[in-house]
Amino acid sequence: MSKYETELHDFQNIFSLKGKVVVVTGGSRGLGLHAASGFLQAGASKVYITSRKASACDSAVAALNALPNLSPGAKSISIPADSANIEGVEHLVEEVMKTTDHVDILFANAGATWGEAFDTHPDSAFGKVMDLNVKSVFNTIRLFAPLLQKKGTIEDPSRVIITASVAGIGIGSLGKTATFGYSASKAAVIHLAKNLAVELGPRHILVNAIAPGLFPSKMASGLISLTGGEEQLAVSNPSKRLGKPEDIAGLVVFLSSRASSHVNGATITVDGGEVWARGVMVNATKEDQAKL
Ligand SMILES: NC(=O)c1ccc[n+]([C@@H]2O[C@H](COP(=O)([O-])OP(=O)(O)OC[C@H]3O[C@@H](n4cnc5c(N)ncnc54)[C@H](OP(=O)(O)O)[C@@H]3O)[C@@H](O)[C@H]2O)c1
Repeated sequence: MSKYETELHDFQNIFSLKGKVVVVTGGSRGLGLHAASGFLQAGASKVYITSRKASACDSAVAALNALPNLSPGAKSISIPADSANIEGVEHLVEEVMKTTDHVDILFANAGATWGEAFDTHPDSAFGKVMDLNVKSVFNTIRLFAPLLQKKGTIEDPSRVIITASVAGIGIGSLGKTATFGYSASKAAVIHLAKNLAVELGPRHILVNAIAPGLFPSKMASGLISLTGGEEQLAVSNPSKRLGKPEDIAGLVVFLSSRASSHVNGATITVDGGEVWARGVMVNATKEDQAKL
């Protein structure tokens, strides 16, 4: 039997993150917290939670450490830091290095949005969104690269996952609460993931992006209520629902596990197919729309 035939039978732990060290930016709530819970329940040994507010990081860590099914010795650690500026990212790396000599998985997830009409869209808001959603994602990956490189190998590469959005693939919000900077920032990080996949692949660090659709969260709640509310948005989604915590947890665990160790530079949508259905709704007759 060849080496590859033997490997066909070694699938038992294909999604396991046993012993992995993880950093989650924007981990105090929303998608970052869903992901952190997934990392820990898949066997990670340390999950660092960072966001600006210390109290929010501490509460998230307390909730994660109270999960009933953690691996023995596994823990979540709170490190408040502002990812929007380079000093904040440097501080985060320094603090992480106090309790680990390497990082296996970096979830670059912190993000912000701004809604304002085209004619009055403020320069400061556009800049703020681009700084956090693009520049700081790049800086976070760049400053964590030495720690990610420590244990990455061809067979077991380290991982970076960037949170993009379907707003970076299709059109984002327009009109009174248009999110031009946000959409541009999410398209930018999708392209950044491709560039960094090629740059960092040879250092045994894989870089992929996720593109969520609407998930109820502090950030999304305004948009959800402005565009009809959860129930109405669920009806217009091909999967007939919005995103839920497990959808994010499952995807980031996959993208961090052996199961995805040959996936690099990809962007995976997690939106029930909503972004592909937009044109269908526009082109369909009223009768067809009722069926969709
Ligand atoms: N929810 C959705 O429908 C959706 C869809 C597509 C993409 N996304 C993306 O998913 C990511 C998370 O969004 P979410 O919906 O989970 O939003 P959320 O619930 O508002 O969470 C945002 C997180 O980012 C942190 N954060 C904000 N500014 C930060 C900064 N300067 N430095 C460090 N941390 C910061 C927040 O904590 P602090 O306030 O304490 O800093 C919080 O932990 C974002 O990149 C967002 O664009 C969300």
